[in-house]
Amino acid sequence: MKLFDVYPLFDIEIVKGRGVHTYDAQGTEYLDLYGGHAVISVGHSHPHYVQALKAQAENLVFYSNSVVNGLQQKLADKLGKASGYDDYQLFLVNSGAEANENALKLASFHTGKKRVLSFKKAFHGRTSLAVEATDNPKIVAPVNESGNITFIPFNDIDAVHAEIVKGDVCAVIIEGIQGVGGVQIPDDVFLKQLRAECDNTGTVLILDEIQSGYGRSGKFFAHQYAGIRPDIITMAKGIGNGFPLSGLLISPAFKPVYGMLGTTFGGNHLACAAGIAVLEIFEQENLVENSREVGEYLMARLREIPQIKEVRGRGLMIGLEFDEPVKELRKRLLFEQHVFTGASGTNVLRLLPPLVLSMTDADEFVTRLKKAL
Ligand SMILES: Cc1ncc(COP(=O)(O)O)c(C=O)c1O
Repeated sequence: MKLFDVYPLFDIEIVKGRGVHTYDAQGTEYLDLYGGHAVISVGHSHPHYVQALKAQAENLVFYSNSVVNGLQQKLADKLGKASGYDDYQLFLVNSGAEANENALKLASFHTGKKRVLSFKKAFHGRTSLAVEATDNPKIVAPVNESGNITFIPFNDIDAVHAEIVKGDVCAVIIEGIQGVGGVQIPDDVFLKQLRAECDNTGTVLILDEIQSGYGRSGKFFAHQYAGIRPDIITMAKGIGNGFPLSGLLISPAFKPVYGMLGTTFGGNHLACAAGIAVLEIFEQENLVENSREVGEYLMARLREIPQIKEVRGRGLMIGLEFDEPVKELRKRLLFEQHVFTGASGTNVLRLLPPLVLSMTDADEFVTRLKKAL
């Protein structure tokens, strides 16, 4: 049977990972400045993580959400403490798009309204309403066109105000830092104004922290730089370090009703074991602080490179804007310098390394990047 061929692949098969390094079948080492698209948070095959998954798999891999699963509460307690959102409620699902679907659904249940404001260049996933809220018509199928999404220019509070006062908006959804859109940071002032607009109109503010959350920005969530508290926060990627797991943090204003949300696999035992191990490693290795410190150091070093037009980002979510397309540079980095990187659009190289990246690893990347340039 053939695979459904939707991914343009690099002809490399990665068979092993350790920390910030991955290895192909021939044993060639690659420095991972991409983290498998921001997924690897505590590093590849961290021994504590591997041990936790093994131990859980030997005990119980899965049982359904019809019985008590103490691991979900353990994960919720740890996450509340790590994120500063102890008073919120946790709902666990399996992927980023699914987290956003549930967040939008919850906002609509809560307000009884339908329209959603999203932003230009936003990416929120590939399913149903999440893909309609994604500013890329190429991946929106006719069946996804509900007509409930309005796109607003990024950082434009007047445009938000003009739409939100119409009274039919259930939610505003915004990324903590736009990833696919080119590592664009919303202004702190704009986020505060957005919070106020939502408060004034009873609109649900959803922060999509799927890429920018879980320590990647140097704070637990990127929106915490602005000092706001959203009504719902969506998380995925780094939460499971590669084990499919995602979730929503839901403010106490939302009252749960039996059956209003649900999932077969969400919050299963093995997923929770992965999520708990990730947070234990975050605590033991101070990974949020490491992300901030190493990110600042790396960005300062990158700003010294004259070929880079602009370096932007927070923590270890970094965009390097060039005057020309980065496609060839990215290939040279991979095939000649053995470094994995990402891209946003045509001219931005995107760095999303594991949060265990050290200053020495950052130096090594700068050396290899300079050779590739
Ligand atoms: C900001 C953001 N939201 C949502 C998603 C969708 O996540 P998933 O691919 O797990 O459905 C992504 C994935 O890249 C993302 O970056």
